Amino acid sequence: MLLAALLVLGSAAVDAARVWDGSRFAWYDTDAGDDFKSALPIGNGRLGAAVFGTPTEKLVLNENSVWSGGWLDRANPKSKDAVPKIREMLVAGDITGAGESAMDNMAGNPTSPRAYNPLVNMGIDMGHGSGIESYTRWLDTLEGTASVNYIHGGANYSREYVASYPHGVLAVRLTADAPGKLDVKLSLSREKWVLSQTADTGSGESGHKVTLSANSGQSSNAITFWSEARVVNSGGTATSPDGKTISITGADTVDIFFDAETSYRYPDAEAAQAELNRKLDAATAAGYPAVRSAAIDDFSSLTGRVKLDLGSSSDVGLQPAPTRLSNFKENPDADPQLMTLMFNFGRHLLVASSRDTGPRSLPANLQGLWNEDYDPAWQSKYTININLEMNYWPALVTNLAETQKPVFDLLNEAIPRGKAVAKTMYGCDDGFVLHHNTDLWGDAAPVDKGTPYTVWPMGAAWLSADAMEHYHFTQNETFLAEVAWPILRQAARFFHCHLFEWNGHWTAGPSLSPEHAFIVPDGLTQPGRSEGLDLSIEMDNQLLHQLFTNINTTCTILNLPQSNPDCAAVATYLPTIRPPAIHPTTNRLLEWHNPSYTDTEPGHRHFSPLWGLYPGSLLTLNTNETLADAAGTLLDHRLASGSGSTGWSRAWATALYARLQRGEDAWRNAQELVKLFPSPNLWSSDNGRGTPFQIDGNFGLVGGMAEMWVQSHGGGGAFVAGAWWN
Ligand SMILES: *[C@@H]1O[C@H](CO)[C@@H](O)[C@H](O)[C@H]1NC(C)=O
Ligand SMILES: *[C@@H]1O[C@H](CO)[C@@H](O)[C@H](O)[C@H]1NC(C)=O
Ligand SMILES: *[C@@H]1O[C@H](CO)[C@@H](O)[C@H](O)[C@H]1NC(C)=O
Ligand SMILES: *[C@@H]1O[C@H](CO)[C@@H](O)[C@H](O)[C@H]1NC(C)=O
Repeated sequence: MLLAALLVLGSAAVDAARVWDGSRFAWYDTDAGDDFKSALPIGNGRLGAAVFGTPTEKLVLNENSVWSGGWLDRANPKSKDAVPKIREMLVAGDITGAGESAMDNMAGNPTSPRAYNPLVNMGIDMGHGSGIESYTRWLDTLEGTASVNYIHGGANYSREYVASYPHGVLAVRLTADAPGKLDVKLSLSREKWVLSQTADTGSGESGHKVTLSANSGQSSNAITFWSEARVVNSGGTATSPDGKTISITGADTVDIFFDAETSYRYPDAEAAQAELNRKLDAATAAGYPAVRSAAIDDFSSLTGRVKLDLGSSSDVGLQPAPTRLSNFKENPDADPQLMTLMFNFGRHLLVASSRDTGPRSLPANLQGLWNEDYDPAWQSKYTININLEMNYWPALVTNLAETQKPVFDLLNEAIPRGKAVAKTMYGCDDGFVLHHNTDLWGDAAPVDKGTPYTVWPMGAAWLSADAMEHYHFTQNETFLAEVAWPILRQAARFFHCHLFEWNGHWTAGPSLSPEHAFIVPDGLTQPGRSEGLDLSIEMDNQLLHQLFTNINTTCTILNLPQSNPDCAAVATYLPTIRPPAIHPTTNRLLEWHNPSYTDTEPGHRHFSPLWGLYPGSLLTLNTNETLADAAGTLLDHRLASGSGSTGWSRAWATALYARLQRGEDAWRNAQELVKLFPSPNLWSSDNGRGTPFQIDGNFGLVGGMAEMWVQSHGGGGAFVAGAWWN
């Protein structure tokens, strides 16, 4: 790094200019204004903060169990009688009739589960409305902290933000380089459904208190939360001018500790507040320096498990992140460290948004942990026809296996919900079914209303494969027996009931290929129409093949007897799942069983029929080269037709090319993602204009990049090349 070296040698001349490690830090010479997607995200796996760094500091705070309401039973009882008839219509070629009946009888009521909601905003007014100079704001992806530094009125002010997993709180330290310089007014605010707000000075060592309690708006069945900031000043005096805010004047240092607890995890206000007080008392007693160092030790012990070195950038790597992003569009090869930063940032986000925080821990949702809207895009829920799974693509291959625990906690919530929906909607008395989204209650009913996405009974099959992968990477037999096996077994039992024999194959349906539609060909009803619903979907067959293979593997590892009904059933189903097929003229892997179907969107963003190439391993080169070639031909066709149109779609393309061992194509797609989709704070997005924010692209990119260097699938023959891992 030539320029960095020069800066170090000539440091007097370039005064306070800091030499940034462009692989580790995203830094800014401006605040975020009112742009959420410029705010810096930190988190402790349950509480998140987006740091705006504005003159009056704005922190958008989140807690991962604050959603728009309690459990909603959305199951549609008309479905049970309709499913066999819809199936018959599909067998008879009445594709349109089947789709219409499915929409009439199978859509959930209401069509959407709960939405993820904001917690509170914290305001820190230091009276620095104008006159700020030498401003710097940065995110440290190794330590998981954010900071702001500037000169005002001749004094040098610093703000530091830490999310502590060990103490379970967020912590802030405000300092100035001269004593008595800090005037701070601290407030908590929320737009909707505030139940109470208080402030209380004079609680000594344990801090002055600002509290805010609110709920999700319903009169019954609401989610309620209690939040509190403790303000500890050294020097100066504290007052509460209005009973809602704390005002400190003339302090040397001000520390703030914050927690929120919700009715999702505690039975009543008393229990939630006791937990809140326990955490805040412990954090204030320990003091900021101890909270900070424990938080950083913990965070960096996870992020520090991988060091990626892709070479050094030219001087562009020393620029503020928005400049780097804009330079990268023109000349990506000049800033390889931006790719490394995106890799490190993705791992930072996973550690920040997904930890084992005790019972009912919750996984990273469509926005991870960070959300400022009461009506976020796609409810910021858990979309399980790709997005939630993609969130965890970095988890195993970059040595963060423990971040997956919340996924299995959520499945624990979802199993009873999915059993109820299997019974009500499919007449299946055993096993559980999930459709293409869920929420914190493990919602299992079909979501939205459209034939290319609503009726997809495969969510549990996919997530069960992630449980099996967790075992393969960790070799934890207790996990396999106690966590993965119940998920696998209950997922399979639904299919024992649901599958039917068609053309000599055990077949699932009605179902669909997420979220793509085909044109109904001549000879079927109604030709020329765009439809989504069908039988024997290629992706379904791959998921079923994986599910029954995983059951069989588990039976062997756990030494279960041949007579075990779950193990015995494998011999019935596995050999007769329809194998993948290749189109006779295009040589592309078929997405639907009928080669006469044509794509409505040849450049569709999903790569559902390629599931078996990545994240599965049924279509890989060392499994079956013919199928891998056909998969590659489909992948090339999709991308040539405009796919890769979202951040997560590019990430999936990256991983798929990596599995095909086509390094140039994998790298080009990874670079395209970074050219097209990051917002100023590096969050991935769903289109090139940076909105809406969707975090799966950040996570998927890490998984896809890792796949370029480390692969371990298709029979255990791992190869490692090109990078250093530790
Ligand atoms: C302000 O203080 C920080 C250390 O807290 C230092 O890194 C920075 O260079 C100082 N800024 C100026 C302009 O002196
Ligand atoms: C193995 O899995 C069990 C069950 O999930 C878990 O309690 C335990 O901590 C895991 N062991 C290790 C070493 O991670
Ligand atoms: C199940 O696994 C065993 C042991 O690996 C294998 O011999 C058997 O063929 C598998 N069963 C099926 C139906 O594939
Ligand atoms: C590979 O897949 C093709 C298409 O399903 C099949 O015909 C062929 O037998 C498979 N080859 C091997 C070696 O399994």
